[in-house]
Amino acid sequence: MKTAALFALLTASLAAAAPSLKPRLVQKRACGETADLICYGTNGGTPQNINPDDIAWAAQYLRNIAQVNNGTDGTFWNMPPANDCEEWQLPLAFGETVLSLAKHINPRINSSVLFEDTANTIDGGANPTAESFANSLLGACGTDGGMIGVYVNASNPAYLTPRYVSSRATPGGVIIKIVHSLL
Ligand SMILES: *[C@@H]1O[C@H](CO)[C@@H](O)[C@H](O)[C@H]1NC(C)=O
Ligand SMILES: *[C@@H]1O[C@H](CO)[C@@H](O)[C@H](O)[C@H]1NC(C)=O
Ligand SMILES: *[C@@H]1O[C@H](CO)[C@@H](O)[C@H](O)[C@H]1NC(C)=O
Repeated sequence: MKTAALFALLTASLAAAAPSLKPRLVQKRACGETADLICYGTNGGTPQNINPDDIAWAAQYLRNIAQVNNGTDGTFWNMPPANDCEEWQLPLAFGETVLSLAKHINPRINSSVLFEDTANTIDGGANPTAESFANSLLGACGTDGGMIGVYVNASNPAYLTPRYVSSRATPGGVIIKIVHSLL
């Protein structure tokens, strides 16, 4: 086999093996969910039995996106405008047992939120305090998974730039869900 053909085959098989990095629309769901904390199996839903290391990885993956795109538009998760409450799979590779989802709960606003805030909502921060960890999805719900509105750090200068302000987007209106990958 020619080297080029072999290379193409190898690239194709690698692409097939690696999970997609691209955000994916999971479903167009009815609106009605709120920013309140729900731990699956405790006050709604079914326990998901997720490996907690995978949940921490999902947060770290989002934090890495925030860091490598710092200062650019790529540091934001933008919820596409839609008439209903779309639910999207957040970027993640090698998540194993976990899926991290972002759901719009108010289609009347254009939501644009920092990846850093989505990460902190899941794990309480890069260096969490006991309190921030306890309030995070990982700290509060652990292996069961759950959902909650994104904790927005409104003091982050990224929300105060003329570009962000003139976009008329807001960081609110998005909840994060941590579920098992066998959705
Ligand atoms: C982005 O850069 C600023 C300024 O250097 C820094 O304070 C902030 O922590 C960085 N944010 C991330 C997510 O890396
Ligand atoms: C949201 O974005 C859409 C498309 O960019 C725009 O037409 C609409 O006016 C925006 N809505 C608000 C409330 O800013
Ligand atoms: C919020 O952002 C400000 C400014 O970047 C930072 O000093 C502060 O530590 C952040 N707060 C949290 C809870 O991460």
